[in-house]
Amino acid sequence: MSDLQTRQLLPVEAYRSPDWLERERQAIFSRAWSFAGLESDLEAPGDYRVLPAGQASLILLRDQDGALRAFHNICRHRGTELLEGCGKLGRTIVCPYHKWSYDLEGALLGMPEQRACFAGLDKAALGLHRAALACFKGMVFLHPDAEPAVAFEDWIGALQGSLWPHDFAEMSEAPPLLYETRCNWKIFFENVVDGYHLAFLHENTLGGPKPLENVWERHGRHLVWYSTEGGGKSCLPAAAAEALAQSGTTRIKGAESGSYPGVIALYPSTFITASPYEFAVSTLQPLGPALTRIRTRGWGRRERSWFGGSSAASAQAQAEPEVIRLEDLDKHPMESADFMLEDLWICEKIQRSIASRFFSVGALAEGPGCESPLVWFQTQVLQDLGETA
Ligand code: FES
Ligand SMILES: [Fe+2]
Repeated sequence: MSDLQTRQLLPVEAYRSPDWLERERQAIFSRAWSFAGLESDLEAPGDYRVLPAGQASLILLRDQDGALRAFHNICRHRGTELLEGCGKLGRTIVCPYHKWSYDLEGALLGMPEQRACFAGLDKAALGLHRAALACFKGMVFLHPDAEPAVAFEDWIGALQGSLWPHDFAEMSEAPPLLYETRCNWKIFFENVVDGYHLAFLHENTLGGPKPLENVWERHGRHLVWYSTEGGGKSCLPAAAAEALAQSGTTRIKGAESGSYPGVIALYPSTFITASPYEFAVSTLQPLGPALTRIRTRGWGRRERSWFGGSSAASAQAQAEPEVIRLEDLDKHPMESADFMLEDLWICEKIQRSIASRFFSVGALAEGPGCESPLVWFQTQVLQDLGETA
């Protein structure tokens, strides 16, 4: 492979320009499937959660018949966001501004002074905008379009039949984690799929594998990481994994084989990490050209129960966690014993360098276990923006 094939494709502007991010919001994030939670997060009719999806805010709820539904969180009167956070609805969604009301299937029911103020209004045309929803192995994925250009089955593609290692019914959830990091979302993504750094930056945490002991494979638009050294290392941020380390191990059959998928990067914003006894899903959300929010939820095998079982965990999943920022840490990220904080430290250091006119990417390490995945990722970003690599 020549170095022409393994080279930085995105210009510096892609990592710092508000205009570039706006184009990505339109072309990538407002047209993307992303992880929204578990089906079991919403147990009873009326349970709801508000979730970001690109620039959109979406409502995921369980309707009176027990079906999950997804809508845009936008009142059809003058656009007020209808709901916040999570909670339980009665039979209706009522806008706080002028009290237009909708049923849990999204239909507009009525409004104050309907006859006097809105005579002849076609209420049937003013139901909530639907979003698309797909359930997969207990997980819920949302897409802002009611009829996405790429159906979920096509987006998830070949991964649908692959080894997704855990059954949530047998797992307990760790407290969720919420990070805000001062870097462009692509720097974070590129770091996730960079197999070259694992043995070096994470020498004292993950401790490997070495660059040639891991492989990234392409599955459609997604990337799947395998260690040829086998599974077994913790894949969770230390904040969650510490509790796990206290108890005995339940290995999943076949998990030690070299083909265990340790990380699945679902383009553009969902990352699944798995070990023989843990499972985590992270989603990223760009807040600005140099600011990214990352939410991580992690689960462990129930035999190694963390925090009192599933009901306690589901309560934790409902609560909005405190935001973790590097500048608030009381120790250096490299002394945190947490590979996630080590990663964020590097991402922010690169972002600061990008502000300098002396910044450039000198070279990228060839090979599917090294930095070639960065090029595959950048190619997709350029494709989505209508530019050629
Ligand atoms: S904006 Fe919702 S009722 Fe007016
Ligand atoms: Fe890393």
